[in-house]
Amino acid sequence: MDAAEHPNGKYVGADSCRACHPDVTSTFFRNSHAKKTLGGKEDITSPDLAKHSCESCHGPGEKHVRERKGKSNIGAFSLMTAKQTVDTCLQCHTQQFPRANIRRSPHTTGEVGCASCHSIHNLARQRQQQNALDRLTPLATSSSAPVAAGAPKGSLALAQPELCYGCHANVRAQFSMPFKHRVNEGFMQCTDCHNPHGTSAPTWRMASRPKLVDQGLINEEACLKCHVQQRGPFAYEHAAVRVDGCETCHTPHGSANARLLKRPAVFTVCLECHNGAPGFGRDQTVGIPTQSPSHSMTNPRYQNCTACHVRIHGSNADSRFLR
Ligand code: HEC
Ligand code: HEC
Ligand code: HEC
Ligand code: HEC
Ligand code: HEC
Ligand code: HEC
Ligand code: HEC
Ligand code: HEC
Ligand code: HEC
Ligand code: HEC
Repeated sequence: MDAAEHPNGKYVGADSCRACHPDVTSTFFRNSHAKKTLGGKEDITSPDLAKHSCESCHGPGEKHVRERKGKSNIGAFSLMTAKQTVDTCLQCHTQQFPRANIRRSPHTTGEVGCASCHSIHNLARQRQQQNALDRLTPLATSSSAPVAAGAPKGSLALAQPELCYGCHANVRAQFSMPFKHRVNEGFMQCTDCHNPHGTSAPTWRMASRPKLVDQGLINEEACLKCHVQQRGPFAYEHAAVRVDGCETCHTPHGSANARLLKRPAVFTVCLECHNGAPGFGRDQTVGIPTQSPSHSMTNPRYQNCTACHVRIHGSNADSRFLR
């Protein structure tokens, strides 16, 4: 926007903020925004947004400085909707995050803007650390550090997974199940599978919402980044894997069942589909084939489907995934 026409007046520069916001201003030189966008060279006359230190995010500060206080006369994030915050940050961040994805992400539409997860100034933590240090006796200071040093990567308000659990408390319990991905143990992160900034429409489970599940290579499900054995392509694909996605049979976070399966016994997973109900599969009138007549479900031998159908995720040798 042309600064001359801005309702809050002109750019006045970071020096004008120092007197009243010393805590924010004194630490800002360490911020990647100060380092990467400014390189120390602020220019209040430049049309280039990147040349405006504080005002690149908060907008022109003339009116705010003249009135010596106020929130409505400055770009105050505490008053912004998620959409307004996203718009402000996307003035520069469109390269990492395609606008369309982040605008329709359940976070943005659920009123969770950039500043709900990222804290640019991290004042809360700075004050907390200062208080903690003030309380310490010299003896205690020499022991192991009582407060985490520095801010988490990416200017996050909190490190993962605590950041996410703050709002998704039910997910914590899922990662405490007997079988689970080891997120709480620090071996992987929520963002190994999810993109909190929104995702493109996926090619798996096209009919359903993607739940922010990230795309790996070539628009495939994020799981395949790590589970390359299940990747394929296979000469004989199992439609359940390729079309419906991994979470048709697996609970991705955690499960009471081995192999993160949705049901305790393998055959109950299979029979959800392989029951001959019409409307799906090669022959729409027949539906997904029931297991062949040779399979006697009263014979326990046949209940362990994957004892014989060992290539359940797809096979290059056998259309029935027997090898
Ligand atoms: C003369 C003192 C003074 C100066 C100079 C000043 N501010 Fe402020 N600012 C305040 C006060 C006081 C408040 C609290 C407003 C309130 O609660 O009504 C405030 C609030 C803010 C807020 C709103 C925070 C929020 O979200 O609640 C922002 C952003 C801000 N100032 C940025 C700036 C910037 C950027 C500059 C320099 C261009 C600046 N201020 C210069 C006194 C000042
Ligand atoms: C990259 C964008 C960005 C830049 C640059 C920036 N701020 Fe902020 N500012 C924010 C966000 C976002 C918040 C909301 C609180 C947070 O995330 O830490 C905020 C909050 C504030 C607040 C309110 C703090 C509080 O107590 O809640 C003040 C005052 C402020 N900024 C002043 C400044 C000043 C002064 C500068 C320059 C030295 C500056 N900001 C540079 C994004 C920015
Ligand atoms: C729901 C929480 C959440 C929201 C909302 C969010 N982010 Fe993030 N963002 C994260 C997390 C978590 C990471 C760290 C990802 C990682 O470690 O791989 C991240 C990473 C980033 C990075 C890369 C940091 C780095 O060091 O690589 C940028 C830039 C960024 N976010 C900007 C934004 C902007 C701009 C917005 C708003 C348009 C936004 N984020 C909204 C959670 C969020
Ligand atoms: C004037 C342009 C500009 C604006 C506006 C802007 N950013 Fe940035 N941001 C950058 C640049 C440039 C970098 C450094 C990129 C790099 O390191 O490759 C960056 C880096 C980041 C990073 C990663 C580095 C880190 O650890 O801090 C995050 C997170 C981020 N910005 C979030 C935000 C958020 C949230 C907003 C809105 C409140 C915002 N940015 C507004 C230009 C901007
Ligand atoms: C400030 C609160 C907040 C934080 C922090 C937060 N979320 Fe969310 N999240 C929401 C809200 C609100 C929604 C949208 C409402 C809903 O569907 O639950 C949402 C939706 C989601 C969804 C999609 C759910 C669906 O049904 O489509 C996923 C996945 C998700 N968040 C993961 C994360 C991850 C991963 C993090 C940490 C990087 C995170 N969230 C951090 C509040 C938050
Ligand atoms: C191993 C990959 C993976 C990891 C790690 C992961 N998720 Fe998920 N998450 C998924 C998948 C896949 C879905 C979609 C499940 C479905 O649709 O049945 C999902 C769904 C969700 C949902 C929507 C739940 C619902 O019932 O609607 C939320 C919220 C969520 N995840 C949050 C998180 C948080 C928070 C973390 C980190 C603590 C996390 N996830 C880690 C793969 C993962
Ligand atoms: C960042 C790498 C990574 C991603 C992404 C990932 N996983 Fe995993 N997965 C692992 C690791 C490592 C294990 C081994 C279990 C452990 O950590 O103890 C595992 C275990 C499993 C198991 C249990 C295997 C066994 O032998 O018991 C299943 C099933 C599984 N993952 C499915 C998925 C699904 C479905 C997704 C996508 C929603 C996914 N994984 C995404 C790394 C990953
Ligand atoms: C049709 C149901 C189904 C789908 C869809 C499915 N799996 Fe499986 N998966 C299974 C069964 C059943 C097992 C257990 C096999 C056993 O115990 O012999 C399994 C086992 C696994 C294992 C443990 C190692 C192994 O091969 O036995 C991993 C890892 C795994 N699946 C990942 C995935 C990934 C990643 C996807 C998505 C690309 C996926 N699964 C989709 C049914 C499925
Ligand atoms: C989400 C539904 C679904 C689930 C769950 C499922 N399948 Fe399938 N399966 C299919 C579909 C669809 C086909 C392809 C049928 C067609 O093309 O007509 C198929 C094909 C097969 C075939 C090849 C049939 C043939 O005639 O070539 C076998 C064998 C098979 N599945 C075994 C299993 C086993 C064992 C399980 C349990 C671990 C299982 N399936 C779970 C949907 C499912
Ligand atoms: C003891 C080994 C064994 C077990 C256990 C087994 N199968 Fe099979 N399955 C086979 C063989 C061999 C064939 C191919 C020859 C035939 O049709 O009998 C087959 C064929 C199939 C077919 C293809 C039928 C068609 O019409 O083309 C399906 C579907 C199938 N099985 C599903 C299942 C399901 C679901 C289970 C678990 C409830 C299961 N199988 C357990 C060995 C087994």
